Amino acid sequence: MTERPVLAVEDLTVTIGTRRGPVRAVAGVDWQVRAGETFALVGESGSGKSMSVLAATGLAPRTARVTGRVLLHDTELTGLPDDRRRRLRGRHVGFVFQDPMTSLNPVLTVGRQVAEACEEHLGMTRRAARGRAVELLDQVGIPSAGARVDAYPHQFSGGMRQRVVIAMALACEPDLLIADEPTTALDVTTQAQILELVADLQQRHGMAVVWITHDLGVVAGIADRVAVMYGGRIVEQAPVDPLFAAPAHPYTRALLDARPDPAHPGEDLVAIPGSPPSPLDLPAGCAFWPRCPVRGDARCEHELPPLTPVSPEHVVRTFYPSREGA
Ligand SMILES: Nc1ncnc2c1ncn2[C@@H]1O[C@H](COP(=O)(O)OP(=O)(O)O)[C@@H](O)[C@H]1O
Ligand SMILES: [Mg+2]
Repeated sequence: MTERPVLAVEDLTVTIGTRRGPVRAVAGVDWQVRAGETFALVGESGSGKSMSVLAATGLAPRTARVTGRVLLHDTELTGLPDDRRRRLRGRHVGFVFQDPMTSLNPVLTVGRQVAEACEEHLGMTRRAARGRAVELLDQVGIPSAGARVDAYPHQFSGGMRQRVVIAMALACEPDLLIADEPTTALDVTTQAQILELVADLQQRHGMAVVWITHDLGVVAGIADRVAVMYGGRIVEQAPVDPLFAAPAHPYTRALLDARPDPAHPGEDLVAIPGSPPSPLDLPAGCAFWPRCPVRGDARCEHELPPLTPVSPEHVVRTFYPSREGA
């Protein structure tokens, strides 16, 4: 994988002004994703996963202050006028969010919505776009796509709606697909089908994929590389195999321990004791310190641990990394 990144995020920080004060949603994150690669962002709710991809692609709320650098291929997105950024995003990036209805218009047929995306991004005629919509709906596994192209979103199940959204995302032939918890609302069987579908489309089209999830089971199934987020920062980043075999951050280990054991279905989840830090009041040192089972002295509380390599592609932000799968 020597290719240049499709998207590179450097020192991205997002601070959102709220009535209760500034919320530092993302604090200096660096990551990149290359063509054909799946990069997963994992972490508990509120850790800054969504905001980091929204801010990177120019979709942060107006009340957010975004600093850092974002490169889409060779173009620096940060600082570009909104309309140029919107055009670039339209041409290169497809989005799939958790709730398909945030992307679908309930009063338009699914075919019209996929066709509109083709007209807008590829400059197709209405007639050509309708044909392309049927092809795309077929490609994402909608049975009898030619007949269902004129159906409305409410006539589809949640999993089928998510397939329609994927077809819309593919309509612009993106080289980057951003999937933010796209299977979280789906049952496990449908979830597995959607994971397989995206993996298959990725192989065929060579897209870069950024997949956001709180589910390490999903990560194990699809990711090439993983970044674990906590309190707005990346606390560990590694290729998927070393991350699972030898997690170095106590938070990553806690997440792995909290996974349901497939050998004992129905067994209670081991929740990570304590709760995530308030983004209004983040500790000066390591954000995981109050919950950390291996925390040390006052240093953890007051000093931010730097991201430190444990192997060439594996970095961790803790003063107490664990050794080899311990
Ligand atoms: N529009 C917003 N206004 C204020 N705070 C926000 C907004 N969106 C997100 N946040 C805050 O930013 C932090 C990161 O949120 P988010 O990126 O959505 O987390 P995740 O996707 O990991 O669950 C959270 O503390 C969240 O409350
Ligand atoms: Mg989110």
